[in-house]
Amino acid sequence: MHKQTIRDIDVSGKRVFLRVDYNVQFDDGQILDDMRLRESVPTIRALQECGAKIIACSHRGRPGGKVVEELRNAPVADHLDKLLGQEVKAVRSCVGPEAEAAVAAMQPGDVILLENVRFHAEEEGNDPEFAKQLAALADIFVSDAFGTAHRAHASVVGIAQHLPAVAGLLMERELEYLEQIITPKRPFAIILGGAKIADKLGILTNLAKHADLIIVGGGIANTFLKAQGIDVGASLVENDRIDDAFEVMRTAALRDDLRLIIPTDVVIADPGGERVNTVSVNRVPPGFRILDIGRQTIEDTREALQDMNTVVWNGPVGFFEREPFDRGTIEIARILAFLPHAVTVVGGGETAAAVQRAGVADRISHVSTGGGASLEMLQGITLPGVAVLRDK
Ligand code: 3PG
Repeated sequence: MHKQTIRDIDVSGKRVFLRVDYNVQFDDGQILDDMRLRESVPTIRALQECGAKIIACSHRGRPGGKVVEELRNAPVADHLDKLLGQEVKAVRSCVGPEAEAAVAAMQPGDVILLENVRFHAEEEGNDPEFAKQLAALADIFVSDAFGTAHRAHASVVGIAQHLPAVAGLLMERELEYLEQIITPKRPFAIILGGAKIADKLGILTNLAKHADLIIVGGGIANTFLKAQGIDVGASLVENDRIDDAFEVMRTAALRDDLRLIIPTDVVIADPGGERVNTVSVNRVPPGFRILDIGRQTIEDTREALQDMNTVVWNGPVGFFEREPFDRGTIEIARILAFLPHAVTVVGGGETAAAVQRAGVADRISHVSTGGGASLEMLQGITLPGVAVLRDK
């Protein structure tokens, strides 16, 4: 690890601006997956032991620079409160008099959570004046927001211009693990799912050069199926990315040592989600949507992964939020958990939730709190939120 951490700096009695990634989802007031919060607790505890005052800051969702009531940080503070067993005050702003007053009232060991920092358009614009205002609340900047480290935003990057900037313990764990596998031991497989090919296309194009096996699922796979000339009914497809999918297929076809697995059978449902069936990809009726991979595709995946030495997985291969369309994703989690000799890395909120739900998280070599961030790192891209931290 080439970056300084909270172990390398004196934090005693200091006001610490702790950037965390608490970008988590709630359903009916219940947090869906609290891994990102739990993983940040060791840093908070370590800072508390030194008598620091902890000013936590996070974004939630993509409110686009304005206040969105359902994206406030208050429910997150309530949950953190339970994990820490002490009051975590939710402040309804992140700069200005209210935030300043909340900080001024803090005692050593106190934790407050500032309001969703993306309620200010200046955050994503990495506005220098906004970064300065955030920095004015604290003496030290500690970054534990690995999941956001690929975003050059004010509370991730700009703030480090004004304060000594070091990594927290979560950030340290992520970097130590992922730096090791930047050059993966081959054969190397990547499984990419999730809704949007646009988010992951760069990764596919880059990794196609190094991977031995690429498996696509979820919404991404539909775009590949369409590129193969298959009628995918009413399934989610990114029509403007079909050429890109075609290009990845062409690369795979030209390389003898690269295998690309695109689903051959799929679980479909009618628009009401009532009639559910598993069919060959060539037999998706009009109006039906593809919502998961089928049994044959799962078995092909299982067989192809057995010889791998490194497997990276990002994104569910089906509509994971809803049963029974979570089955393919849960199966993939189990397959990874029992591979004979592979180092397995799982990244992204839903994918991490899948390995938890499958009960196999402890059999995965590394479950990353960052989806996009871990994939960018694995492509050899320097994350801006890491670059700004002090070197050892
Ligand atoms: C994530 O959940 O991947 C991070 O919090 C980053 O969120 P973003 O993609 O909205 O920047």
